[in-house]
Amino acid sequence: MNPLKLFGTGRREQSRDTVGAQRHTVISGEVDVSHGPILYLENVTVSFDGFKALNELTLYIDDGELRCIIGPNGAGKTTMMDVITGKTRPDSGTAFFGQTMDLTRMSEYEIASVGIGRKFQKPTVFPRHTVFENLELAMRADKRVWPSLWGRLDGQQRDRITEVLETVMLTGQQALRAAELSHGQKQWLEIGMLLMQDPRVLLVDEPIAGMTHQETERTAELLTGLAGSRSVVVVEHDMAFVRSIARKVTVLHEGHVLAEGNMDEVQNHPAVIEVYLGG
Ligand SMILES: Nc1ncnc2c1ncn2[C@@H]1O[C@H](COP(=O)(O)OP(=O)(O)OP(=O)(O)O)[C@@H](O)[C@H]1O
Ligand SMILES: [Mg+2]
Repeated sequence: MNPLKLFGTGRREQSRDTVGAQRHTVISGEVDVSHGPILYLENVTVSFDGFKALNELTLYIDDGELRCIIGPNGAGKTTMMDVITGKTRPDSGTAFFGQTMDLTRMSEYEIASVGIGRKFQKPTVFPRHTVFENLELAMRADKRVWPSLWGRLDGQQRDRITEVLETVMLTGQQALRAAELSHGQKQWLEIGMLLMQDPRVLLVDEPIAGMTHQETERTAELLTGLAGSRSVVVVEHDMAFVRSIARKVTVLHEGHVLAEGNMDEVQNHPAVIEVYLGG
């Protein structure tokens, strides 16, 4: 099934291509990143009882980039992720995945299945299943492998699990029940479960909360390693951690972008200093 047929409006192409009537050749089911960004949020406003959690937020995430999003409590960071994943619908504004997929018209399930994975703060692993089984379950939850739902894993599927175990640093723990893992390892397992679906965008909200120093360092390596072949958007309060992984940083405040740039640029930005230290 071609999700573009279901969800595509073509609106993005019309509004973005000002030069000529260029048409993109879109491979079936593939996100169109031919203009660079993979995520487009434009003028997104979300109100809760009149309070604007997001206020005309405009933000672009490039294909393959690692983006850190920082900002004080209540800035709208989690709400932004809720809009991208279809959990919250904007009152106004647009949210597109690539050039053609209108996220505001897709269900949470559809958004996940076209390649946007989200890691919540609380790990949602299956505690009584082994690490390996958790990854297996995540793979089987993917509709693209439906036919093998009750069957044995084939070689390719086993290789994929082995590969993800290595990526998330749990090769030695694959036979342990998830309940026996440390807090940090559970977080990595959940990232691994998302990776089984091979997402093009991975959203992670406060990934290092509760982690030891060593787990934090390894999470930094994990997330930076994941970028490139996919986009990774990290929301985090811990500035030392952000500095250790940051390329481009976006500072949100009161529902919109206050500053954007590398870590030094945003930390020296007068408006950012004002928000964090003054006020
Ligand atoms: N479902 C909701 N109903 C009412 N208000 C909400 C809801 N979700 C978020 N808000 C409000 O919207 C604002 C933005 O919240 P959000 O959770 O996006 O902030 P955040 O930047 O993630 O903050 P934190 O750093 O504390 O996680 C807050 O004032 C919050 O209270
Ligand atoms: Mg939040």
